[in-house]
Amino acid sequence: MGRTFYVTTPIYYVNDVPHIGHAYTTIAADVLARYKRMAGYDCFFLTGTDEHGQKVEKAARESGETPQELADRVVERFKGLWKRLNISNDDFIRTTQERHKRAVLALYQRAWEKGDIYLGEYEGWYCVPCESFWTETQLEEGRRCPSCGRPTEKVKEPSYFFRMSRYQERLLRHLESNPDFVQPPSRYNEILNFVRGGLRDLSISRTGFRWGIPLPNDPEHVLYVWFDALTNYITAVGFPDDRERFERYWPADCHIIGKDILRFHAVYWPTFLMSADLPLPRRVFAHGWWTVEGKKMSKSAGNVVDPYQVTDEFGVDPFRYFLLREVPFGLDGDFSRSALVHRINGDLANDLGNLASRVLAMTKRYFGGRVPPSHDLMDGQVRSQAERSLKELDRHISDLAFQQALTSIWDLVDLLNKYLDETAPWGLAKDEGKRRELEAVLYNCLEALRLLAIMLSPFMPSAAQRLWEMLGFDSKVEEARIEEVGRWGLLPEGQQTQPPSPLFPRVEDKG
Ligand code: MSP
Repeated sequence: MGRTFYVTTPIYYVNDVPHIGHAYTTIAADVLARYKRMAGYDCFFLTGTDEHGQKVEKAARESGETPQELADRVVERFKGLWKRLNISNDDFIRTTQERHKRAVLALYQRAWEKGDIYLGEYEGWYCVPCESFWTETQLEEGRRCPSCGRPTEKVKEPSYFFRMSRYQERLLRHLESNPDFVQPPSRYNEILNFVRGGLRDLSISRTGFRWGIPLPNDPEHVLYVWFDALTNYITAVGFPDDRERFERYWPADCHIIGKDILRFHAVYWPTFLMSADLPLPRRVFAHGWWTVEGKKMSKSAGNVVDPYQVTDEFGVDPFRYFLLREVPFGLDGDFSRSALVHRINGDLANDLGNLASRVLAMTKRYFGGRVPPSHDLMDGQVRSQAERSLKELDRHISDLAFQQALTSIWDLVDLLNKYLDETAPWGLAKDEGKRRELEAVLYNCLEALRLLAIMLSPFMPSAAQRLWEMLGFDSKVEEARIEEVGRWGLLPEGQQTQPPSPLFPRVEDKG
């Protein structure tokens, strides 16, 4: 059955409809999953929705629905978006599913048996929108939430606590001996310092609302949303019932998340797992946040980017490309219409799209559309760049350095454009004595396009598939295995290619 690779996104709250931030994480995880599949892994890619908690309860009250009705309605927006964005998730988890409740209770039970849960009293300042409690000293002026700036409410209530403090030393040792556990490195340092500063026990139950999983030992209390939510990552791989499956996929290879929810994933989650004697995930990667035209994205500013709208206008592949090309994964970035248009017209329509069109048009004109023989001639630089790009792609994707991965691919695109200008096949075509050179040059370009289709497939699945078909293949490029097809010289001589059709139409910058 081969090596496994398990990648996750956060599960998204259903009190809000999907926006560019959700799309970003999910697309990044999708690229990783698609690449790993092509690299021969038995990959499991999970996404889903986080449906419990006070925020959802409140949103439901406001829209006059039950929380379940709200969840059932909003979940469709997420599922629909993933379909539209060509997301290849293997499962979709909802925290209101029975399988999930079972897993949460099993995890809770383990902590209970360890003596890691006790009844205490919680006193703190609560921010409803963030579902976060803050201590007096953490608050901003006017007792405002340090995360979102909105007013907090003072809450004092009995609560069950998880003995997180017990795991401080172990977590610290784990961090120190696994510097790749949290990425990028700046985030690792942030977490290391936080854990060095000491871990306090964590309040994990609430009595102030009902929409959650009741504690078996005290049903007046429902479980705090993060204990519930984080467990999704093990529910979906069979915890606690399906041992074989669980052992196959767990621990996860990578939790991809946004920087705002790093502490939950890199501190709380590992301590829950330690308490339950379960292995820790191998890596937690926190990406940055998008602003929109230079401003923080928010409902009140009315500048929330709706991925349905953007892809209606610009197409799915360009959107996927832009998000991963524009900003190094891990840093913050700015989404603007002009930057998107610029990338589409430059990188996609001009550099890549025209390249493919020119090569295929010449193949048609000079060879009736059939792949000419290679003669192993004049391939030096193209071949070595293609091989370099393939190799770098593997390393960059494994590091989640998507921007660099795309840059490596574009090194080949740029080289091919130069190669065409330098070898000028249209000139060779005029000279009968240069037939062999003409054949070689076009073979090299077509072969490089084949490798480009393979490399682009995780990022832009539809465009890559179209290019693949234009090169005369009738298979699915996403089902290709890099080990088998990712080598120079495999394009069959004589294969009938298709006449070019534009891969990426240019778009007008309406400003
Ligand atoms: N339900 C929790 C996650 C539980 S995981 C066990 C949650 N949900 S969320 O819907 O609020 O956010 C999900 C993700 O969207 C987070 O990773 C967050 O970083 C990301 N983003 C929200 N706004 C964003 C931007 N403006 N830019 C990039 N990502 C952003 O948190």
